[in-house]
Amino acid sequence: MRTAPSFWPDKQPNRPSCYVHIPFCLSRCSYCAFSSSLYDRETADAYLDALELEMRARPCFSRGHPPASVYLGGGTPSVLSSTQLDYLLAMLPEMAPGSEFTCELNPDSVDSEKLSLLRERGVNRLSFGVQTFDAAGLALLERRHDAAAARRAVGLAAEMGFPFLSLDLIHAWPGQTPSMFARDLRQAIDLGVTHLSCYSLSIESGTGLGKRIAAGSVTVEEKEGREFWDLAEAILGKSGFEHYETSNFAKPGRACRHNVEIWKGGEYAGYGASAHSHWRGRRFANAGDIHAYLDSLFQGGSAEVFSEQLPPEEKARECAVFWLRLFAGINAEEFAVRTGFRFRDLYAGVLPELVEKGYVSIDSGQAGERFRVPPEYQPVLDSILAELL
Ligand SMILES: C[S@@+](CC[C@H](N)C(=O)[O-])C[C@H]1O[C@@H](n2cnc3c(N)ncnc32)[C@H](O)[C@@H]1O
Ligand code: SF4
Repeated sequence: MRTAPSFWPDKQPNRPSCYVHIPFCLSRCSYCAFSSSLYDRETADAYLDALELEMRARPCFSRGHPPASVYLGGGTPSVLSSTQLDYLLAMLPEMAPGSEFTCELNPDSVDSEKLSLLRERGVNRLSFGVQTFDAAGLALLERRHDAAAARRAVGLAAEMGFPFLSLDLIHAWPGQTPSMFARDLRQAIDLGVTHLSCYSLSIESGTGLGKRIAAGSVTVEEKEGREFWDLAEAILGKSGFEHYETSNFAKPGRACRHNVEIWKGGEYAGYGASAHSHWRGRRFANAGDIHAYLDSLFQGGSAEVFSEQLPPEEKARECAVFWLRLFAGINAEEFAVRTGFRFRDLYAGVLPELVEKGYVSIDSGQAGERFRVPPEYQPVLDSILAELL
């Protein structure tokens, strides 16, 4: 077990999660508007130095108060060289045994050396961006890998014994039929993954695909989102996956704990360009531009560009809205402990009508009351949640 770097203090009052953003990719996929730039070794070296400065300046964890989970996201953390990954892993706070430690990967930048390093350093959950196994789909989405490379990368990770393996799929891209999506789902299941994120393609203006659609060179057919969603539920359900959040499915006990905590309003410290944090009641975010981030840190300052402290009631409402994305719903007692508000009191004005319309259900079990948006209303979740803000 690594020892904690000396710049993490010994005592902190609570235990949030930790998110670290690695804003580099080898190329831009046609659909993606995430915050990342093309990888080059020098900029990535400087970025890791800046990350270390940021962690020293804002140490949120300690050996006595380790993070509940760590999530390395991007961009693409796996584009870092093995040496850079090693450097990054060494600067992270020490984790408690059994905590979830995720790294996002692109199948194109994975090899056994990097996977061994991640495994050795305690990463126990890998999340691979695959999107589709269909050759025409991979070309349209401008992915760098083919289906065989995706299978090889996930297979290698499985052989190495990573206990939590997740795959991202995108559905409803131009030209994809439900039966093509069904084939993607079956191929993902055959790889033995424990978790699947199935995102419906969001067409983002300014991306390559967004521009081609706006110019009329790619046509988007009207698709019935519900059809893709039902298909995922039916196929994944038969293979033992539970649908636990709008876009997420997991084998029992394999949901992403890091994200579940965040959906329940849990606090987290984010480091890196564009990283958001929710820490001791305050929400704040860093500059998204890598060079602005580097300049701020190297000049001895902070990269923070946004900060807000929500009043407690507003915070509790925001928490309810995120939490209802989870199909397990909100346990009344846990909600009261986490937010300081009783769900029924908070929504005394709108709850009766939402229950009457069937948009919110209330179950009373041994563990107390539980508020849920029933599965049939999940596709219109956003409009229901708007009533609760
Ligand atoms: C940070 S990437 C995952 C890791 C790695 N960068 C990769 O793409 O292989 C996060 C995920 O967001 C999803 N995503 C990004 N842009 C999207 C869009 N416009 N519509 C739907 N899903 C999107 C993709 O499934 C992608 O795998
Ligand atoms: S989907 Fe992943 S690899 Fe593609 S541009 Fe976005 S972050 Fe980079």
